[in-house]
Order: sequence, then C-alpha cells, then structure tokens
Amino acid sequence: MVVTTDVLVVGSGPAGAGAALLLSTLGIPNIMITKYRWTANTPRAHITNQRAMEVFRDAGIEQQVLADATPHHLMGDTVFCTAIAGEEIGRILTWGTHPGRHGDYELASPCLPVDIPQTYLEPILVRNATERGTRTLFSTEYLSHHQDDDGVDVDVRDRVTGQEYTIRAKYLIGADGARSQVAEDIGLPMEGAMDIAGSMNINFKADLSPYVGNRPAVLYWVIQPGSNVGGIGARLVRMIRPWNEWLIVWGYDITQPPPVVDEAAAVAVVRSLLGLPGIDVEITGTSLWGNNEMFARRLHHGRVFCAGDAVHRHPPSNGLGSNTSIQDSYNLAWKLAAVLRGQADPSLLETYTTERAPVAEQIVTRANRSSREFVQFFEVLGLLDAKDETEMAARIEERKANTPAGAAKRAALVSAMELKHYEFNAHGVELGQFYESAAIVGDGSTRPEPARDPELFYEPSTVPGSRLPHVWVGDARHRVSTLDLAPMTRFTLFTGIAGEAWADVAEKVAQDLGVPLETVVIGPGRAVTDLYYDWARVREVGEDGAILVRPDKHIGWRSTSLPGDPYRALRSALATILGRA
Ligand code: FDA
Repeated sequence: MVVTTDVLVVGSGPAGAGAALLLSTLGIPNIMITKYRWTANTPRAHITNQRAMEVFRDAGIEQQVLADATPHHLMGDTVFCTAIAGEEIGRILTWGTHPGRHGDYELASPCLPVDIPQTYLEPILVRNATERGTRTLFSTEYLSHHQDDDGVDVDVRDRVTGQEYTIRAKYLIGADGARSQVAEDIGLPMEGAMDIAGSMNINFKADLSPYVGNRPAVLYWVIQPGSNVGGIGARLVRMIRPWNEWLIVWGYDITQPPPVVDEAAAVAVVRSLLGLPGIDVEITGTSLWGNNEMFARRLHHGRVFCAGDAVHRHPPSNGLGSNTSIQDSYNLAWKLAAVLRGQADPSLLETYTTERAPVAEQIVTRANRSSREFVQFFEVLGLLDAKDETEMAARIEERKANTPAGAAKRAALVSAMELKHYEFNAHGVELGQFYESAAIVGDGSTRPEPARDPELFYEPSTVPGSRLPHVWVGDARHRVSTLDLAPMTRFTLFTGIAGEAWADVAEKVAQDLGVPLETVVIGPGRAVTDLYYDWARVREVGEDGAILVRPDKHIGWRSTSLPGDPYRALRSALATILGRA
C-alpha cells in the first residue's frame, strides 16, 4: 500500500504541528504522523514569546491560544526564595513585565508574551491543522525513508495494528524532537553534546494563591540547602495553571543513577519547598529529562528538512525551544508552498538552512550560557564552597548581617540578579532574528549599530533580512499592525502616497511572475493611515520608496525611493528571492 501527499510531517510537537498548520493554511496537502496516541503528555514548553504569538496571529489562532494561556501580566514577578512561604532572596521582573521594559515589548509587536503549557498548545495546533486539511495519523511511527529526484518514500508503522506501509511525499519534514531519527538518517552535521545534565520533574496540585497571588509569576526559584542529595538545593517551582497546578524541576548528576521518587517522597519534597508542612498536595506525575547542548550546521538534505529540537537542543532557559521550533516552520512552510506551486525554484529551499542554522546556533549558545550563569548567583550566596548544608544555610543568612561581609554579599547579589536579564528579558534574542541568504536582496546597507545591548533590546529596522517592524496603522475606527497587512499567503509591498506608482508596477510583476503580491499604501485617504506617524519614523526609506515583505514577514528587499524603472527593480528583486533570476 502506498499513500501519497505533498508534504509528510513527522511529529506533532510545536515544530511538526506548526508546520502542518501553516502548510494547510497555505492550501498545501500534507500528512502529519506522530508516534503516540495523543499530543505531549507533560507541560514542557510554556513561555510563548512575541514572535511565536505573531505566527499564531497570522495563522488566525491567536485568540484560541490567548483563551488557554496565562496572560502576560501574571507572568513576571520571578522570585528567588528559601521556600514559597519562606524568606525572599530577591525578585526580578521578567518577560517584559518591568515598567521600564514593558514599553519595549508593547512597541515591538501587536502581541505580548504569554504562558501556555505544551499540553494546551499542541491540541490547538493539531486541531486547527486537521480542520484545515492535514491528515493527522496518531500512533504512527516513522521508520526510515528513501529519497529520489521526485520525492521521498517514507516507511511507517501503525502502532495499533502493527501494519507497515509507505507514504510517498514530495517533501519530508522531520520534526521528531531531540532524538530525531530523521536528522540521523540524513546525517545532519551536529555540534555539541547530548545529556550534559539530568533533570527531574514532579507535577503536583495545591492551592498556593495565598503565597503567590501578591507576586504572580511563572517561575519561583527555591534555594534550600538539604532539599536534594549532594547539591546546593536549587529547585524551580513552575506554575502550570494559576495558582493550583505546579511543576518542580531540579537537576541531578546524569552520570549517576536517576533519583527514585515515590509518592511519599514527592509529597515531602513539595511540602519542604513550599515551606508548608501540612498543606494538601496531589502528586500528578514524575518524569526525567536530559539537558542538551547541540545544534545542526545544516538543516536539510535534498527533499528532507528537519525543524525544531531535531536541529537545536538546549535547556529550557530563556524559553526558546518551542518558540524557535514554530519559527523554523514559519520559515519553511511558505518556501515549500512556493516551490510546490511552481512559483519558486527549488533552490529557494536551500535558504532554509542558510537562514535558520545561525538561529539554531545562537539559541543553543544563549540558553546554555543562561543556564551556566546561574552559578554566579550561587557563588555570590557562598554556596559553592560551603562544606555542608548548615554552612550553606548560614551563608544565605549572612546577607542580613550588618557586617562588611553582609554588605559585600548584598552588593554582589545586585549584579548577580542583573545578569539574569539575559535569561528572562532577552528581547533582542527573542525578536531580533536577521537573515542573510539568497532569498534576501541587500541594498548595500548594513544594520544600524545597536544603540543598546542587542541581546537585551530589539531594534526595529527595514534593512533587508530584518523582521518587518510593527507599528499601528489604520483609520478612525480600526487599528491594525503593519504585520497584519503582510499575511503569510502573499508577498506585500509597502509604500507611501508619493510611491503610489509602485501599485501598478507590483500588479504587473505579480502577473508576470505568477506570484501573489499586493501593495499597501500607507497615508491619509488611503487603505490605512500612519495613525501615530510611527511608520514614517521606522520605515528608513523615503515616502516614495518601497519595502518588499516576504510571507514570513522578513524584509526581502527595499528601495529607498522610486527608481527610474521601478518595474525592473521590483521584478528583479522578487525573481531573485524566488531563485528565478
Ligand atoms: P517535540 O519533542 O515537542 O515533538 C517531537 C514529536 O515527534 C512528538 O510529537 C513525537 O511524538 C514525535 N516523534 C518522535 N519520534 C517519532 C517517530 N519515530 N515517528 C513519529 N513521530 C515521532 N520551550 C519554549 O519555547 N519555552 C519554554 O518555556 C520551554 N520550557 C521547557 C520546559 C521543560 C521542562 C522542557 C523539557 C522543555 C521546555 N522547552 C521550552 C523546550 C520545548 O519543549 C521544546 O523545544 C519543543 O517541544 C520542541 O518542539 P519539537 O516539535 O521540535 O519537538
């Protein structure tokens, strides 16, 4: 038996279900197979950043995600303490909730970060993908594949019946997670190491509203010497649902046998970290997982593409995994659609690696660095060289002392907390992805020198390769984001009233190349007005210039003014992006 489709997606995690959803939204026939009978069975990813939310907005599922998510204003009062009901060591306002940073986030995007556990997000992605045309096959396992010049034969096993059969697809996406068989089968060049540290989760239910409602956050770090064997007792109490469903995470030495935690032991750990010996606790599960530091230098081979953890594997620090996985699929989906429709040359697909492999390296490096930087916090507290738990506890107490050592500790804690902005407020990392590839036509300009730290701060720009800057435009009754005006179903050309001539030119280019391309003129009396004059401030081109936005909202080309032959300029740019020059 051979089943055929255009794209076969292996995996229904954020990368796979994201890819299936985007392909179906673009009208590309696809099948998604996934090994298990349902979606993720542990909460895993949760911090959902603005860029991922923008993808959901473009796919028309933003409201569904918001309905199931914990909103931004409840995410950020991240606490460091000795127990949830115990003493605080410090707090840091995170994920853009500090009043001094909130504006940066508001200005950068029509969407704010939210918290949605993977157990809630994946069903939304899968449901919408399936409703829009994806044929979703649960309990179906990828076994192997063979590709030729025209397609890929993928051998799969139905895990219910045991039956093996072949799916013939034009393209294969391996979104099968950190232990990707697909990535291994195509021999992607990987750098780094897997399982560099072990982590244990305990999921539990308990009403903690009296202890956290005044300082709402997703993450509560508990430093409690003696709360684990042989370590400094640092554990994370993570909110799953406010404020009665939680997850405890702690690291263990992966070279040793994993901790064995039965129900009674789990209850004892929970009560101790909460500092509430008599609280009612329901343990809902325990699990083990490994921390990795690995990325692929190449993300595809021929007709087979890998996305998500298959090509970037790292700890949860910075909350980048699921977000980047969804963004991988956003980069790939429109390119596959353009090639499958004959609008682009297959060489366009090479740019998936060129554009996304540097992002994979960047986020793996950042997440592991953030994880290691926690050491400074423990060092400052004096925990690393303390000989036993009693000494650790005394050293934590020392921060209260009216002594030179106490004062030094307090001062050092200030800078140790500062460093955590690179994990919890790394807006530039989250939003500042920039592409250089054959699908970006440069204009000789370089990105403006960053005025502020580029990891912490996102700076809008229209230099080709940048993400289209968000500003609000509209009319007296409605306001929309510039991002809303450039949907993934087409290319979009932005110009001003003095550049209206671009509209006819774009129509002709669209016809000639057979590619969907619409012009948006921003100005009074036109489709949208520059309500706050913000577009004039960020566009970096003259009013008669033009900005060509790709379906993934990255700028593919720009012209600072209306040239003598705008048809030739635009046609050449679009043809180059599509690999047809
Ligand atoms: P993922 O692993 O999610 O999915 C793989 C899919 O492939 C599954 O559907 C599986 O069934 C399927 N599969 C595997 N082998 C198969 C086979 N042979 N045949 C068929 N199907 C197969 N990220 C983030 O952005 N923000 C955050 O806050 C966090 N927090 C976080 C906390 C914790 C505790 C963990 C462990 C991880 C995070 N992450 C995160 C990371 C995030 O969970 C991770 O990056 C994404 O799940 C990756 O998504 P993928 O779709 O690539 O793989």
